[in-house]
Amino acid sequence: MSIIYHKNTRIFHLTNSSISYVIRIMENGQAENLYYGKKIHDREGLECFHEEAMRSHLAVALPEPSILSMQYTRQEYPGYGRGDYRSPAFVILQESGSRISDFTYVSHRIEEGKPSLAPLPATYAEDPSEAQTLTICFHDDLSDTDLDLVYTIYRDYPVITRHARISQKGPESVTIERAMSASVELPDKKFEMIRLTGAWARERYIKTTPLEVGIQAVHSLTGTGSSAEANPFLALQRPGTTESAGEVYGFSLVYSGNFLAQTEVSSFDLTRVMLGINPESFAWKLESGESFTTPEAVMVYSDQGLGHMSRVYHRLYRTRLVRGVWRDRPRPILLNNWEGTYFDFDENKLLEMASRAAEAGIELFVLDDGWFGKRNDDYAGLGDWFCNMEKIPSGISGLSEKIEALGLKFGLWVELEMINKDSDLYRAHPDWLIACPGRFESHSRHQHVLDFTRKEVVDHIYEMICRVIDSSRISYIKWDMNRYMTEPFSVALPADRQGEVMHRYILGVYDLYTRLTERFPEILFESCASGGARFDPGMLYFAPQAWTSDDTDAYERCKIQYGSSLVYPVVSMGAHVSAVPNHQLARTTPIETRAAVAMFGTFGYELDPAMLSDYDIEIIKGQTDFVKKYRDLIQIDGDFYRLLSPFEGNETAFAAVSRDKKRAVATFVQRLNKVNASWLRLRFAGLAEDVLYRVSHQVGGNILTTEAYGDELMYAGLPIDREELLRQGGDFAALVFTLEAKEA
Ligand code: GLA
Repeated sequence: MSIIYHKNTRIFHLTNSSISYVIRIMENGQAENLYYGKKIHDREGLECFHEEAMRSHLAVALPEPSILSMQYTRQEYPGYGRGDYRSPAFVILQESGSRISDFTYVSHRIEEGKPSLAPLPATYAEDPSEAQTLTICFHDDLSDTDLDLVYTIYRDYPVITRHARISQKGPESVTIERAMSASVELPDKKFEMIRLTGAWARERYIKTTPLEVGIQAVHSLTGTGSSAEANPFLALQRPGTTESAGEVYGFSLVYSGNFLAQTEVSSFDLTRVMLGINPESFAWKLESGESFTTPEAVMVYSDQGLGHMSRVYHRLYRTRLVRGVWRDRPRPILLNNWEGTYFDFDENKLLEMASRAAEAGIELFVLDDGWFGKRNDDYAGLGDWFCNMEKIPSGISGLSEKIEALGLKFGLWVELEMINKDSDLYRAHPDWLIACPGRFESHSRHQHVLDFTRKEVVDHIYEMICRVIDSSRISYIKWDMNRYMTEPFSVALPADRQGEVMHRYILGVYDLYTRLTERFPEILFESCASGGARFDPGMLYFAPQAWTSDDTDAYERCKIQYGSSLVYPVVSMGAHVSAVPNHQLARTTPIETRAAVAMFGTFGYELDPAMLSDYDIEIIKGQTDFVKKYRDLIQIDGDFYRLLSPFEGNETAFAAVSRDKKRAVATFVQRLNKVNASWLRLRFAGLAEDVLYRVSHQVGGNILTTEAYGDELMYAGLPIDREELLRQGGDFAALVFTLEAKEA
């Protein structure tokens, strides 16, 4: 890996064994994107990729005879108002009212490793030799403002990360109205754009559309989160790209607030991709001496299809974004009481559930919503982070001890960013809401958003929740967030800083996460937002796992988890077996299928085990034993392969293959059963061609075993026995295969 600088041509070449990214400082001092893609040779002369021509309406950036125009040039960080009529990467309003800037190259530095972006979340290098960082410094003379573009290339991954920093040097203030994290230009438009879109209970469905001239975007304006409707990610793939072949560019933003990820194809078929904080209703004032740092964009290039792009994101995010003691640990099998009881529980009920859970091999009991304040429904209690002693006479401290005595760890649900008007906290601090004086305060699920732009609010919540944690035996926290922001206004900020509310809010959330994770490093945090409405890399930096969706139906989960897997590792996806008929869909699926899908996640249960027969508990015991045997492979060591897409047909399949390719686990699920149907084969991926595998799957109480070489399994495929699918329940039946290499 290296970052090479060619002094004569002012060209930077960021390269490792698989990718190249080439930047040139142009004659006007701005940066041009010459090439991004598969590794190319380094040599003097890469400026040949600069293209210019005399065209009509040409706005020329330099005195004649130059014809350098920003209008047709692929730029690294395009500005506004200088003859480029596409969307700019940044807009800076100056006191004069002008938004015109002219940032020209001043200097650059190349360093080993990767600097932290704290308090913002970002990927990291554990050892300086893992990455190199280039900072290119630009200056705008008139406003006396600095702009740094920062690039890191990883040694072992086809990954480049980017962010920008704007610093005001001069005496006047400026207002940043737009500051993308990255802007990249590709020289043609022969791409399809992949987005992850959805809504509550159907988060992160894969949507693919061809690129055409003009703008296509995915964005969020919800304030409190990256959202269920859109994920801070897009990919551009060449038409015909598959899981294992074809060129793909992935763009992911390490941020949990309002974002924009956009492609713009010009009339000359250049494709500009940018992503960053959503400029809509964003304005950040910089006084003299202040700086603003954008979130980080993580770009992955793959010439081996979508699957390779995903596996790079998985490994990078699992090992170089997630931090703390839980990073490399398989996750405990949990029981969450939410769908088992909702608000209707007392201490005895919880203990009854926990003791049955212990019999079934479950390791962690999570007490969800309803344990605090006057929280008997969702009208009251948020903000009052002390135990409801009527429901739980022993308090959280006593309850957690009793649960531990049963052999389980104890975890707790919180929703720290929110407040009900029916709460002691609201009665004491009615002005702590995000709200606009004189305007109606829109409510959602009867709750309001606390003003986390204010340090005293975050401090107060921190103190309150620390008292609970300090006095109890808490191993896990589920941090929920169940509404989007409305009337985004803070009474604590002056008029000219109201455009900062949304970003400051997320910084407040990150601040509270930072304090709690530093103070309680052993606690496993799971983020949540009405299911998966804040499932993003920013959250993963603080909470290594996230509740993927409130939709716990096994078949719906195939789609949600499959879509999420484009970017997010299996071990980040909270996934539970719930009761049937399913509470969201009234659908009944076999318990084997529910487990087969949930085991490609953090795995747990969300039902009332006290209602289950001894026979059911035995089945669950078998499932927890299986997960304990294979979770290291599925969650930590293995690579994830998508085999059949639920978005394309009746069958879904995915697999985890150990890094040494000696073991694998695969789940196959069919939607509807078919009668008198065609043959069916499951083609594996990621195996070693020459290894003979023992392939097993459970049939009734027996294990059926066959043997096959990796090449047979990958290229000819494993015949699927439709009779077996019928025996497994027909509709929504699943088969789980395990593969073990036979010793030679
Ligand atoms: C959200 C979460 C659920 C549950 C409820 C509790 O909807 O996604 O898992 O915690 O809140 O109110």
